Amino acid sequence: MIKIADLELPTLDDIDVSSKKVLLRVDFNSPVEKESKKLLDTSRIKAHIETINELIKKDSSVVIITHQGRPGDEDFLTLEMHRDVLSNELDTEVGFVSDVFGPCALEEIKKLGKGEVLMLDNVRLASEELIEASPEVQSKTYLVKKLAPLFDVYVNDAFATAHRSQPSLVGFPMVLPSAAGRLMEKELVALSKIFNLEESPKVFLLGGGKVLDSIRIIENLSKKRIADRILLGGLVAEVFALAKGVNIGDANKKILENQGFLPLIPRARKVLLSGAPIEIPVDFVVENQNGVEENYATTVKGIIKDIGPETVNIYSTLLKEAKVVVLRGPMGVIEDERFKTGTLKLMNSAFSSDAYTIIGGGHLISLLQFAGVSKAKKVHISTGGGALLLFLAGERLPALDALSQSIRVIKNENKG
Ligand code: 3PG
Repeated sequence: MIKIADLELPTLDDIDVSSKKVLLRVDFNSPVEKESKKLLDTSRIKAHIETINELIKKDSSVVIITHQGRPGDEDFLTLEMHRDVLSNELDTEVGFVSDVFGPCALEEIKKLGKGEVLMLDNVRLASEELIEASPEVQSKTYLVKKLAPLFDVYVNDAFATAHRSQPSLVGFPMVLPSAAGRLMEKELVALSKIFNLEESPKVFLLGGGKVLDSIRIIENLSKKRIADRILLGGLVAEVFALAKGVNIGDANKKILENQGFLPLIPRARKVLLSGAPIEIPVDFVVENQNGVEENYATTVKGIIKDIGPETVNIYSTLLKEAKVVVLRGPMGVIEDERFKTGTLKLMNSAFSSDAYTIIGGGHLISLLQFAGVSKAKKVHISTGGGALLLFLAGERLPALDALSQSIRVIKNENKG
């Protein structure tokens, strides 16, 4: 068992998986190259190898379930590519079924032999997976009702998705004996040890496109007074700029509107008014009909693609003064070579500082080797992005709560 705050979570040491049929939830969600749709980074897949190998060694029949992107997004893909990477890493043939819980999937799961591995297709092809609800509700979804009877054990190794209350994460522990996988265990133990609440200043650098998640994180960090500074980039910085009354131009406003982010402005304003220690960029790199140029935040004339050089200098100074730095999400459109600079320079500043740096999220991890990570004295590379930040902010993660409740299921099994 591992004890995390008030939770006790069963691990692979507490549950018998030998020769059992195991449903393993992992997080293989990886950044994808826009045009070719190739995976830009495979470290999230590699991070689960220890768990999968342990299950294979114990002769379990391992069925892997994971997501990639969200329906409607460019990185929402089927998972053959992930299967190929996994086969390569395990040096063994991994089966694949382009289905989640239809007849083909159920047939392949039943046929799976001991020590074999099968991957189901993107679990978000099942519409139920996109709905967040309580574990009790999720345990009654078709996904859980169809799959659970085929398994003896459920293992959750997906730390990076632990902040979602989706059926594949919280439904199965209600009906199957369940445990945390080795990656989940390692992340929780390491983060609980290194994120020392006493140490300050703590600087959080938040970017990327998941604006709602970021606002939730900022609200938590600020309410619990965990962050001394919160430095913003990416789309979340644009929403906060608008909340502060900065005119970032109609074109950028339209992009935020199309993505449904404008209704978040009042929420961002409320966070600002509460005195949260938030910094927004003073300048941006923009693209317009003349090409690429640098503009002050108050005179933006083009589409924002990165933070500008003055912002990089200001943020770098703050990062260098920190004792703990947490980095999540890129500052700009890093899929395009021309707009990686802000993110790379700030990662570099964090790695060359004396701060303990915790870094998470697929996009930043894909840049590690270009950002001088080898210089870093103290660094923890987490597979988590949103989940990592919410965990550090002390928020309850539904998948962990569900795993802790599964102790009840294990105890009932033992009685039977
Ligand atoms: C992540 O990358 O943060 C996780 O894979 C969760 O993905 P989501 O934000 O699409 O739920």
